[in-house]
Amino acid sequence: MIGNRTLAVPGPTNVPNRISQSMYIPTEDHRAPDLPGFVKPLMEDLKQVFKTETGSVVVFPGTGTGGWQAGLENLLFPKDRVLVSQFGQFSKLWVQMCKDMGFTVHDVAVEWGEATPIDQYRDILEGDVYKDIKAVMVCQNETATGVTSNVREVRELLDELDHPALLMVDGISSIGCIEYLHDEWRVDVAIAGSQKGFMMPTGLVVVALSERVCKIIAGNKWQAKFKYYDFGTMLSANETGYFPYTPAMTLMRGLRTATDMLLEEGIENVWARHTKLATGVRAAVDAWGLTLAAKNPETASDTVSSIKVDRQTDANDVILHAYNKYGISLGAGLGPLNGSVFRIGHLGWLNETMILGVLGGVELAMRDLNVPFKAGVGVGAAVSVFSQAEDNVVNLF
Ligand SMILES: Cc1ncc(COP(=O)(O)O)c(C=O)c1O
Repeated sequence: MIGNRTLAVPGPTNVPNRISQSMYIPTEDHRAPDLPGFVKPLMEDLKQVFKTETGSVVVFPGTGTGGWQAGLENLLFPKDRVLVSQFGQFSKLWVQMCKDMGFTVHDVAVEWGEATPIDQYRDILEGDVYKDIKAVMVCQNETATGVTSNVREVRELLDELDHPALLMVDGISSIGCIEYLHDEWRVDVAIAGSQKGFMMPTGLVVVALSERVCKIIAGNKWQAKFKYYDFGTMLSANETGYFPYTPAMTLMRGLRTATDMLLEEGIENVWARHTKLATGVRAAVDAWGLTLAAKNPETASDTVSSIKVDRQTDANDVILHAYNKYGISLGAGLGPLNGSVFRIGHLGWLNETMILGVLGGVELAMRDLNVPFKAGVGVGAAVSVFSQAEDNVVNLF
């Protein structure tokens, strides 16, 4: 096709040229004497993305799923009790992993489109009189339904009940995009992937650990030792400025640039930009007369919108047509949502005009398929949102 394809899936996200160029380097010696001069500041600076001063960050090759496994493997034993909820494809898979790893799972399944059910968490935690539950888990942003959960609320609940459980957060489609406060919320394990908020190719897992967890790991003589995912081995190697395995240096160079870009923009500005762009998308959805899979507008995600089409239309037709005719990749409905929703990813390296292009492309595809709406209303609604926004400074070049 002539012109660029448009990537509007909720990850992997667009990779800025600055990041691509920083990875265009000859192969590096990962045991070079000057490597610590690169590794140590990167590990420090990454902490700012997670808003942690007291915690530590580890980075290893893999994807978000590997981050889940690593977090569980490092801190829990088979049969340990965990509290986790499922309300979409990713939270569902996380629950499944917990079951498959042999934990005793309090599996709170709520309707897809809901967020982490705080009332049910309360009931279960209040009932846990011996404080047996070892970990409480929150999928901060369910990418399948476009729903954001309130991590702060879960922390407050644990504090109120004086419950010592570890707090584990899947921040794979939220960290580096929307508010995430590792120290303030006293999260113990938070998992991010390179291909979402970090605007990188897929291939790195970035995990933030709390001070408490680092101490547990340091005192751990038996768990995950000499396994690939052992955080303890990673932390000790990182302290010297190296890694316990062959690091993906090319991606690490990209991660350096990604971190620079996020910090140059200012992490709070990154969050504000995502809110602004998401508000524009939601205005468009509303103007089209469509609705979100997110049941409560307050939990609608600022990184992905899962959009329900009218009953006459198969959402997969919209996705296929948008791709084949206009070169736009939209996210498909996952699991039971397949066919009834398409998803627009609005995370990562994006500005207003890129979003307007996506919305325009969706309008073209929907018009071709006779979805009833007035051409231009969605784009117009988003233009109104963007033109009224106070901060229109998006300098991401
Ligand atoms: C919220 C969430 N958790 C977990 C995953 C799984 O991550 P990965 O595909 O990188 O293994 C994804 C992937 O999109 C996700 O969005």
